[in-house]
Amino acid sequence: MRILSGIQPTGRPHLGNYFGMMEPAIRLQHEGEAFYFIADYHALTTIHDPSVLRAHCREMALDFLACGLDPARATFFQQSAVPEVTELTWLLNCVTPVPMLENAHSFKDKTARGFIPSVGLFAYPVLMAADILIYDSDVVPVGQDQKQHLEMTRDIAAKFNARYGEGLLKLPKPMIRESTAAVPGLDGQKMSKSYDNTILVFDEEKSFRKKIMGLKTDSIGVDAPKDPATSTIIPFYKLVASASEVAAMEESFRAGGLGYGHYKQQLFEVLWEHFRPARERRAALAADPGHVESVLAAGAARARPLAQSVVRRVRDACGL
Ligand code: ADP
Ligand code: TRP
Repeated sequence: MRILSGIQPTGRPHLGNYFGMMEPAIRLQHEGEAFYFIADYHALTTIHDPSVLRAHCREMALDFLACGLDPARATFFQQSAVPEVTELTWLLNCVTPVPMLENAHSFKDKTARGFIPSVGLFAYPVLMAADILIYDSDVVPVGQDQKQHLEMTRDIAAKFNARYGEGLLKLPKPMIRESTAAVPGLDGQKMSKSYDNTILVFDEEKSFRKKIMGLKTDSIGVDAPKDPATSTIIPFYKLVASASEVAAMEESFRAGGLGYGHYKQQLFEVLWEHFRPARERRAALAADPGHVESVLAAGAARARPLAQSVVRRVRDACGL
């Protein structure tokens, strides 16, 4: 089984990125041949400063490694180190109907906000399809918001195969873990850097605590019973606590006698401890000069020949 996923270097990872994509991807590296990359070509649709892009790529690579991506098991690389993916994008562009791209949520959201889209933003899903199809990927671990992109990838591959030959491109399946498909943000909407409602995995302790303590709660008094079903605290606790720990907190909510501040403090402590090993690994990795660069170079050297062989197959089928 070949597993593939990518993440854009557009900021530091938040709990939605971690539980929705990074942690499932890290688990899957033990179950097949994993390919994970930093989507720097995609980031060019929003980041226009070269030094910012370079810095973000390095930070994201460090963050992913610190979270447990093991470069001895997973091939970890920068998308742009395999430029063949842009050639496959062109070949796929020529079978992709414009209305399919006009229908993409991410495109519609940005244009609805008055943003004048570039061709790059418009064709973003085609580049993503190429990312996946160029490695003959079987499964793609992502959060719920990427589901439509995966459907488009399958559609594009099917159109390509219908035109040039069945079986040329392998149709991938999304892997969306239901329990963490859409991690809520501080305001209850989906956590996203676009909504300014995130908790960053590698934030400073003071600001991490402040965000948890600032979670919105109702004004029920300390002694009164509280409803776990409508709580903003429990969904976060579920990310890191066992089923019996969650049941104990829910029971304590119903019993009353403790204020929300108590539960927030408890939540802060488990979340902060959960990421302690990752923080420690990150500090060690960041102190090792050249480490990230050599991991990414070794990953690219493994990924590129595979991509080149798929592109050769596809070029030939197209008559190039
Ligand atoms: P953002 O919405 O903050 O811009 P990205 O689009 O860069 O996040 O997402 C990177 C990865 O993290 C994708 O696989 C996406 O599905 C996943 N992801 C992002 N936000 C969440 C969330 N709130 N819950 C679950 N997964 C998420
Ligand atoms: N579009 C994805 C996101 O914003 C990132 C991405 C690019 C990706 N190429 C991919 C994810 C291929 C999975 C597979 O999160």
